[in-house]
Amino acid sequence: MAKIVILGSNGQLGSDLRKVLVPNHELINSTSADINAAAVDVSSQLAPYSDVDYIINCIATTNVDGCEANPQQAFLVNSAFTLQLAQFCAANQITLIHISTDYIFDGTKPHAYLETDQPNPLNVYGLSKYAGEIAVKNYADKYFILRVSSLFGVAGASGKGGNFVTTMLKLSREKDSWTVISDQITCPTHTLDVALAIEALINQQVSECGVYNCVSSSSCSWFEFTQEILRQSGQDINKVKPISYKDYAFKAMRPQYAILDSTKIARYYVMPDYKSALSEYLSLA
Ligand SMILES: NC(=O)c1ccc[n+]([C@@H]2O[C@H](COP(=O)([O-])OP(=O)(O)OC[C@H]3O[C@@H](n4cnc5c(N)ncnc54)[C@H](OP(=O)(O)O)[C@@H]3O)[C@@H](O)[C@H]2O)c1
Repeated sequence: MAKIVILGSNGQLGSDLRKVLVPNHELINSTSADINAAAVDVSSQLAPYSDVDYIINCIATTNVDGCEANPQQAFLVNSAFTLQLAQFCAANQITLIHISTDYIFDGTKPHAYLETDQPNPLNVYGLSKYAGEIAVKNYADKYFILRVSSLFGVAGASGKGGNFVTTMLKLSREKDSWTVISDQITCPTHTLDVALAIEALINQQVSECGVYNCVSSSSCSWFEFTQEILRQSGQDINKVKPISYKDYAFKAMRPQYAILDSTKIARYYVMPDYKSALSEYLSLA
């Protein structure tokens, strides 16, 4: 049994981590009521956690367009807080499990990104998360950086007010047809699988620290994902129509082809394909 702190325990991933880890570990749940990650100095807020084995950092400012509008908040939470957390973990011999993103890449590689590929973020969110990764690599002694993408979980992302699946199901109830981007490719990933992968790293006492891609083992466009959501929930897949990324008015640029290769994490936990992950999610939601 390990003593584990989940930072951001009420978030989408944090909620599934609580469910997965609680039976076999001593858990401390930490929410924004316990820690303000946007504070310039968080040392006194982290101090109560100095005797734990693992800290899992699910805290992030996740609204991609919001980060473009408020870069200071993005860098405080995603970068400066992560730096202080990495230093705190090193000073107290704590293993840090930090969550990062596919948005550190520019999406120009024509096939899946490996853990060793060079990041080149396109937006403030990606840049602030990449700075967080650099802080972890340079200041934490024992760490795992898990790069995840396009998360959907039963709790819904607190920073976005739901998740993509709930949004598409809501649109299907309210509209006869709507458009979804068909030329932006991703690996939609169920937060429960990320939580199970983290549990595997902890339970198997994995010592090979470093970066791990932790996404579903197959990819699709957001349009194809929507068709699959409709198919699996017994609805007409023709209600959704394709639209091009370039015709969608995002504030922040996004990587258009952001597939992560999940071979490395499969040594400890085999990530399912996105259709199986969606099916599992729909059975729980
Ligand atoms: N969602 C995605 O599609 C996606 C894609 C790629 C990577 N990721 C990464 O995956 C991780 C988890 O994402 P998620 O979808 O679970 O996000 P989420 O549901 O929005 O959770 C984020 C958590 O951060 C906490 N938080 C935000 N600002 C804070 C602050 N100033 N002080 C303290 N806590 C703060 C929130 O706490 P409260 O709930 O208490 O406010 C929440 O628990 C993040 O690192 C994110 O960058 C997510």
